[in-house]
Amino acid sequence: MVEPKNKDALEGCWVLITGAAKRIGAAIATVLHGAGANVAIHYFASAEAADALATRLNTERSDSALTVHGNLRKMADLEPMIKEVIAQTGRLNALINNASSFYPTPLGTITEEQWDDLVGSNLKAPLFLCQAALPYLRETSGVIINIVDVHSQRPLKNYSVYGAAKAGLGMLTRALAKDLSPEIRVNGISPGAILWPESGMPERIQDKIIEQIPLKRAGEPEDIAAAVLFLMRDAPYITGQILKVDGGRSIGW
Ligand SMILES: NC(=O)c1ccc[n+]([C@@H]2O[C@H](COP(=O)([O-])OP(=O)(O)OC[C@H]3O[C@@H](n4cnc5c(N)ncnc54)[C@H](OP(=O)(O)O)[C@@H]3O)[C@@H](O)[C@H]2O)c1
Repeated sequence: MVEPKNKDALEGCWVLITGAAKRIGAAIATVLHGAGANVAIHYFASAEAADALATRLNTERSDSALTVHGNLRKMADLEPMIKEVIAQTGRLNALINNASSFYPTPLGTITEEQWDDLVGSNLKAPLFLCQAALPYLRETSGVIINIVDVHSQRPLKNYSVYGAAKAGLGMLTRALAKDLSPEIRVNGISPGAILWPESGMPERIQDKIIEQIPLKRAGEPEDIAAAVLFLMRDAPYITGQILKVDGGRSIGW
């Protein structure tokens, strides 16, 4: 494998990853950390998993990981989250908006509470976190990466609110890339089927989805993390793009 020219580029950088205690967020934190970055692991309910991850990473390299708590549904939590990270690190080089709530909202049953939750975590919080992080990202010529979804462009049945929120996040990615250039690059990644929801998914639906994927399998959290690393470290001339990491699903369905 060819070594990237800038393989030490992340050393000393601080990256805030939302929803990073488990699953894809934890893989992003682990891969960026392995590439030399220091990581601020945001969590909401998963305190134990966040602490365990930070402890593991700090054992590998001391003072290289910290945890930060916040409910992304609460505006009052957002700016303090960024300030708390800065108070401990003095800098911020990247913000990865990964946290998300995800569940079906069949038409006729949708509540305002569900709208606020799905739009809050998937669209509103990423925007206001970006805004709060701006002064610090400007200082470091930093990077924003939003984790979108292939279903932001093609609807998943019964997930209209989630899909609309992710579609908004896609547009936000392009809009912020324009507004924040040339100082800050803003990109997105649209995962396909990577991990089934923690709440479970019937096997027959899983099989149907796999059948639609040209590569005939689900992806791994590390596939998303590798794309984050690429956009952050190896793509200085890429901004305003949303990279699909979906085993070809978006061309196959
Ligand atoms: N899994 C997939 O195959 C797939 C496919 C397409 C797109 N994606 C996208 O990829 C990203 C990661 O996916 P995932 O499946 O790993 O995510 P996930 O496990 O469903 O959620 C990630 C984290 O989001 C946090 N979160 C949710 N609501 C929150 C709130 N109100 N405040 C603060 N944190 C909140 C939770 O943190 P706590 O546990 O600490 O509460 C949760 O662990 C998401 O943006 C998702 O939409 C995933």
